[in-house]
Amino acid sequence: KDIKKPSVTGLEGVVAADTAISLVDGDKGHLVLRGYWAKELALKHAFEEVAHLIWRGSLPSDDQFNQLKKKLANERDLPEYTINILKQLPEQMDMMSVLRALVGTFVLEGARWPPTLDQAVAITAKIPTIIAYRHRLIQGKALVAPKANLSHIENYLYMLSGEAPQPAHVQALEAYSILTMEHGMNASTFTARVISSTESDIVSAISGAIGAMKGPLHGGAPSGVIEMLEEIGNKEQVEAWIRGALERGERLMGFGHRVYKTHDPRSLALKEMIGSLEGQDEWLDLAYEVEKQAVELLEEFKPGRRLYTNVEFYAAAIMRAVQLPEQLFSPTFTLSRTVGWTAHVLEQAENNRIFRPQSTYIGRTPN
Ligand code: SDX
Repeated sequence: KDIKKPSVTGLEGVVAADTAISLVDGDKGHLVLRGYWAKELALKHAFEEVAHLIWRGSLPSDDQFNQLKKKLANERDLPEYTINILKQLPEQMDMMSVLRALVGTFVLEGARWPPTLDQAVAITAKIPTIIAYRHRLIQGKALVAPKANLSHIENYLYMLSGEAPQPAHVQALEAYSILTMEHGMNASTFTARVISSTESDIVSAISGAIGAMKGPLHGGAPSGVIEMLEEIGNKEQVEAWIRGALERGERLMGFGHRVYKTHDPRSLALKEMIGSLEGQDEWLDLAYEVEKQAVELLEEFKPGRRLYTNVEFYAAAIMRAVQLPEQLFSPTFTLSRTVGWTAHVLEQAENNRIFRPQSTYIGRTPN
């Protein structure tokens, strides 16, 4: 009896857990973080304020805000052994693999289970340092130590370049990081929760989440957007290039979403933001043209699938505008999403049950 091709639902439409952390409303195109519109949080608040909201359920008082900034600053350094391992890693290893490997080396304070907020803060604080140190090392530049008096995002940009970052860049990247900090039960968050559900430790959960985030169908898409725009080159080539890709059955990076069946609100918010960033005009003009034609052609080739830009499309524009190199796009997404991942690990531990879905056996029947 021939074996039929195994169908994989990707758990579409399946509810894995209740959560109080965020609402991703795919029909209305709404993203709510602990009761606040994500877009408003991005326009009005700092990374650390929204991280406090995601972790603890409320925006911080001034005192709590200063406490958290101090805690994050105190946890930015990497242990000597981690830096030694970092220096041994082969040149050709990509940054997401470096992050996955190095987070796995953390030996955290406190018990393995249940995970603690201090552990979540410690991991979140160290991710920017790993990215910046590795980035400097492979360029043969001296490491730039973190500066305690700089905010989370400011310090990240400072450690990458060794100079005080432009305020406009800090502001744009801070808004981006808030918009991407948390997004419900996406593949990498689900991974973190599955690992946590076995009463494993938070380091294992975040290492696994980084592995899931790395994939181009998930967090690996922004660099694909840049490559697509570079290949298209100019407005006259847009239709032919996209038509060709869709005829070859290729996926357009930065388009489509499992949940959003209308515009991704983060993409709309980022698109509004980049308009104000200088020196983006010709590249942005092309991006706007690609979005317009891609949405039309996706409807022609995939009628009724309601495929629009997702967060990655304009994330690429923001990261390019703040002069982050392409190989730092997914790592920067990881930097912000670590807050959401760790919040879900903490929430899972409050009322845990091991994840163990079913599968349908289509193999041979035993004699
Ligand atoms: C993120 O889940 C989250 O919340 C993720 C995220 C987060 O914040 O955590 O929002 C971040 O991961 C955004 C997505 C980034 N990925 C990309 O931009 C890669 C391109 N996108 C696609 O691969 C796809 O749209 C997914 C992965 C995002 C969603 O996949 P689904 O829900 O499994 O959709 P599908 O593959 O079932 O597609 C439905 C149809 C298919 O055609 P048919 O089989 O019905 O003929 O639409 C087509 C697909 O071929 N399609 C696309 C497409 N996306 C879907 N066709 C061309 N280009 C695309 N981008």
